[in-house]
Amino acid sequence: MNGKVYVVGNFKGGVGKTKTVTMLAYTSAVYNHEKTLVIDLDPQANASSVLAKTGGIDTIEKNVYDGFLQEDLQNQITPVMENLDMISAVTQFRNLPKLLMSKFPNDDLAQISYLDKLIQPLKETYDSIYIDVPPTISDFSDNAMMAADYCIIVLQTQELSLDGAQTYIDYMQYLINTYDKDLQVLGIVPCMLRPGGRVDDKVLADAKGKYGNNVLDTIVKYQERLKVYDVEGIQLKTNASKTPDQWDLKAHKVFKDVLNELDEHEQEFEEVGGKVNGN
Ligand SMILES: Nc1ncnc2c1ncn2[C@@H]1O[C@H](COP(=O)(O)OP(=O)(O)O)[C@@H](O)[C@H]1O
Ligand SMILES: [Mg+2]
Repeated sequence: MNGKVYVVGNFKGGVGKTKTVTMLAYTSAVYNHEKTLVIDLDPQANASSVLAKTGGIDTIEKNVYDGFLQEDLQNQITPVMENLDMISAVTQFRNLPKLLMSKFPNDDLAQISYLDKLIQPLKETYDSIYIDVPPTISDFSDNAMMAADYCIIVLQTQELSLDGAQTYIDYMQYLINTYDKDLQVLGIVPCMLRPGGRVDDKVLADAKGKYGNNVLDTIVKYQERLKVYDVEGIQLKTNASKTPDQWDLKAHKVFKDVLNELDEHEQEFEEVGGKVNGN
């Protein structure tokens, strides 16, 4: 197996990164039956908490910080449900910069490539590995980008600006140029998180003008049910007559569409072979 690694990014908080990571991973595992892993690199551990609830896990014993300390992530895997595992974050992981400094003094490249090194054996086990990151330019995002094959960018359509996404793409390009890294924008996912909001057509048109077909046709709109998953975990409830809950189906459908589009993009990139960097 030669699993692919995806980082979901934007240098702003509260734009839907963690929601996208958890829903795409769930979709990949449950609907596409792919062996899927989520690595939570955000010390706030939101993705870990959602997935723990999804899998009915009370206490998480393993975490990414111990993996980084012990130079082995394979011992830090927590099974969530069939085909879905996670390596969860802990608040201590905020000490990553110190840890990297002491492990690799004066070696910038080794510092930001540490996750890439640790993730290699995991690619033998998983089809897809999704990385959730905090919204900062930091050792966390550097390590995620250096370990990734593809970036999935979240675009907040109501911000009336492409700033957080563009900063992310610029920074990605900087890493590509500086370290000769092979990394590609797989897709830009328009997310709109305010209830009752309208799609801002101008922002979308601007984004399409700038990034072309990288911008997905699917728009992730505000759905109360997606919000509820923060508290209850991702679910597919059935009612008394065994039919699936329509709000769950709707929430899942949008991320099935997102994943389909991303898969199409990926196929195009893989067919081209030598990946070209368009942005
Ligand atoms: N499509 C959506 N509909 C409703 N709420 C959403 C949606 N996407 C995200 N949210 C909520 O918005 C908040 C921020 O999303 P999150 O994914 O945590 O952002 P980030 O990881 O970028 O900080 C969370 O409370 C989340 O539940
Ligand atoms: Mg987050």
